[in-house]
Amino acid sequence: MARIRTGVLISGRGSNLLALLEACARPDFPAEIVLVVANVPGAPGLAHAEAFGVPTAVVDHRAFSDRDSFEHALDRPLKAAAVELICLAGFMRLLTPAFVGRWWDRVLNIHPALLPAFRGLDTHRRALEAGVRFAGCTVHFVRPEMDDGPIVVQAVVPVAADDDETSLAGRVLEAEHQCFPLALRLVAEGRAVVDGSTVRLIGTARTPATLLNPPGPSGAS
Ligand code: GRF
Repeated sequence: MARIRTGVLISGRGSNLLALLEACARPDFPAEIVLVVANVPGAPGLAHAEAFGVPTAVVDHRAFSDRDSFEHALDRPLKAAAVELICLAGFMRLLTPAFVGRWWDRVLNIHPALLPAFRGLDTHRRALEAGVRFAGCTVHFVRPEMDDGPIVVQAVVPVAADDDETSLAGRVLEAEHQCFPLALRLVAEGRAVVDGSTVRLIGTARTPATLLNPPGPSGAS
């Protein structure tokens, strides 16, 4: 089985990277991580790549005078490793339309909210302020607008009455660790096909469950 050659871009902790590394370590997984690139020297997530024997590179955005030259510097190790698909796993730089165009339909991002709600930063604080009963996360193909693009996978996470940002972020993060490997699998297997502004899924099960939060009088949700 030819496994899709995947590069992961990170800026920090790398817990989603770790979830992807663990998924790719399974012999039947249709993707392999061939390179991890950080834009922050010493990003803690780089240690996960090293533990799995995956090559790493650091392309420090502060060393470049403009976004274009930074992004061309990002291209170089990605091309050298023959990367076919990029996963943004907590990569905290906005990508220019030029970069997104060069990698069109070949960049996935994970966002800790149910897009198109709560684009941008501080998603959990804003979700709590808005009083939503459900939060969640999204894996989507990247488009030039921030946190925009065809959605591959989402997970819904209930908001508890006593949640604060930390507890909600932790619950969403657990869902992220399920979603990103699933999205990578679907894309790598050709079962998540971009069709205009949406993704057409092929051969996935239907899930007609209805969720109610808080649970109704019977306590069932
Ligand atoms: C995650 O919440 C991800 O959704 C967001 O940045 C965070 C990165 O966390 N884009 P980690 O570095 O993967 O632990």
